[in-house]
Amino acid sequence: MSESERVSSSARAFRERFGGEPAVFSAPGRVNLIGEHTDYNSGFVLPIALGERTYVAGARRADDTVRCYSRERREEHAFALAHAWRRSGKWHDYVEGVARALAARGVALAGADLYVSSDVPPGAGLSSSAALEVALGLALTTLAGAALPAPELALVGQSAENDYAGVRSGIMDQLASALGRAGHALFIDCRSLEVTPVPLPKAGVSFVVCDTRVRHAHAGGGYNERREECRRALELLQRSGRAVTSLRELGIEELNDIGKLLPEPLDRRVRHVVRENGRTSAAVDALRRGHLAVFGKLMNGSHASLRDDYEVSVPELDFVVAQAQRESGVIGARMTGGGFGGSAVILVDTADLERLSTNLRASFQARFGHEPVVRVAVASDGVRRETPARA
Ligand code: GLA
Repeated sequence: MSESERVSSSARAFRERFGGEPAVFSAPGRVNLIGEHTDYNSGFVLPIALGERTYVAGARRADDTVRCYSRERREEHAFALAHAWRRSGKWHDYVEGVARALAARGVALAGADLYVSSDVPPGAGLSSSAALEVALGLALTTLAGAALPAPELALVGQSAENDYAGVRSGIMDQLASALGRAGHALFIDCRSLEVTPVPLPKAGVSFVVCDTRVRHAHAGGGYNERREECRRALELLQRSGRAVTSLRELGIEELNDIGKLLPEPLDRRVRHVVRENGRTSAAVDALRRGHLAVFGKLMNGSHASLRDDYEVSVPELDFVVAQAQRESGVIGARMTGGGFGGSAVILVDTADLERLSTNLRASFQARFGHEPVVRVAVASDGVRRETPARA
């Protein structure tokens, strides 16, 4: 289905369910090329926004009720904006969370009917939740006759995730979904929130996303535990007299000394974060200079570090990465996203793409009994109003 057909089908589904004419909004998922578990340590990341998007078709209502239907869940949830909020642990925490976070930023919301449908696979490490939050943020704001700059929509999405859905995620996913740029990766400094688009090679190579279909569940899981370990490590370093406010401020040359101050496994967690920040800066430099072999080596290094020091990989991801790294034409490979399942990202010569996909599917199936989903990442634009062009 083309993008415009996708928009029309979203509007049609809305009309069938609610009647009336909706406006359609969309926001993309993302794949991170390098810079993992650095965002909540005020460090560097390098994601691209994907062609897979979440669509929200919506129309304003006269009362203060928000009704939201999810095509994927086949479920409708309704709530009154004026009512107190309680976490349910269900998908609609994101919907209510975005509404509450917008209200907390002073947006005077209006009731709305919303039809949500998504092409971003959930749990694949491709930020389906950020795509939902950011698309909802633009939809609810616009339908209320208000406006927020894209970086603010990202912060609203993060607040929905942190304060309402209970995942203490960083800002990378929402910024990528809000500010993605076709043909570019985004180099993000998660301390200043400065976002710099970096052009991707136009031809010859592809970024491939291999979804192991092993599903992670961030809420309450290993992700929050890693965040907590980083917090403890920082606290210990501060108590030992280091004048630092985030792990981002530590240099690679300090790692030896730091290692002696921190108990296992905090020393390895910090080592990952510090080195990953270095790798991400180096990767941006390599991309700008067209040094793809260097970029690929940095990806490989990132994976080893996430596997051994940060311990967020799983056997399925290690397998995909090792298999890919053995294939000719592959320049680099690593797990991507929060980990504990999800996807790997592989940089490959486009000429070798088909063979790589076939081999990955077959070897993975032979080993784990199911096929992974292999897709090419198309770097796309961030959140937008699709239709009508103006209210
Ligand atoms: C998840 C989080 C992000 C980031 C990554 C790991 O995707 O939502 O904020 O921390 O994990 O890099």
